Amino acid sequence: MKEEVSSHSDLVACMKDISVVYGDFAALYEVNLDVNKGDFIGICGPNGSGKTTLLKTMVRLVQPIAGRMMLYDQEITDTIPAYIRFRIGYVPQITNIDRNFPALVKDVVEMGRYAKAGLARRITRVDKQKAMEALQLVDMEQSADRPIGHLSGGQQQRVLIAQALAAEAEVLLLDEFTSALDFRMTEDIMELLFHLNHTHKITIITVGHNIEILRAYCNRIVCINKVIAFDGSPKDQKLDEAINKIFN
Ligand SMILES: Nc1ncnc2c1ncn2[C@@H]1O[C@H](COP(=O)(O)OP(=O)(O)O)[C@@H](O)[C@H]1O
Ligand SMILES: [Mg+2]
Repeated sequence: MKEEVSSHSDLVACMKDISVVYGDFAALYEVNLDVNKGDFIGICGPNGSGKTTLLKTMVRLVQPIAGRMMLYDQEITDTIPAYIRFRIGYVPQITNIDRNFPALVKDVVEMGRYAKAGLARRITRVDKQKAMEALQLVDMEQSADRPIGHLSGGQQQRVLIAQALAAEAEVLLLDEFTSALDFRMTEDIMELLFHLNHTHKITIITVGHNIEILRAYCNRIVCINKVIAFDGSPKDQKLDEAINKIFN
């Protein structure tokens, strides 16, 4: 087995002493996190521990009050330059899409192409092709012409992943999609993520509430409780200690 050696050029994101507050409430405190190309990171922590905030900070949906952050070789001060932004696909927590929401699956995925090209440009044949390829990657091409509201939670999640892939994202940030899904569907999505990570070299950071599933699939676990309580291998014994500590 050949181990990949990570060098500085393999860094996708680097957070240094990042703190985030909402009003006068600190949601993240002096968080340090390096994300390497090829990582498959599972983030866990109790409710309200800052998991969503961490993902949102990476794509600057929230602004830290302190600390520094690099994405690729670019220091991010305010907004993320477009050429970097589309490389990072953020898949938010799914709250049931209205059954009557009129958009078709293929429309939703094509929106990923707008994210890359900008709204001013029309969708071309190449865009439609790329959207279809992304749907194939998540095994949803047969549902391209169905309204997204008619799909199950797990299928909707796949479509949102396809949307990010259509934008040619190299990194996927996924918020707690599993909470709405049963165990089987959760495993199916984790299998898909594992495949994208392994075969397509997509870097993955996923928040999950089922620690055993995260341990089974991820090469790295990050436990968070406002501060980083653990960052390491799923096999590390200190992980159990950290989990006991932050969940009790
Ligand atoms: N927009 C907001 N305004 C005020 N407080 C917020 C906001 N978003 C999150 N919080 C608070 O910050 C903390 C962390 O939230 P969050 O990152 O969503 O945690 P998690 O995803 O781990 O459940 C929680 O206590 C939450 O109530
Ligand atoms: Mg959350």
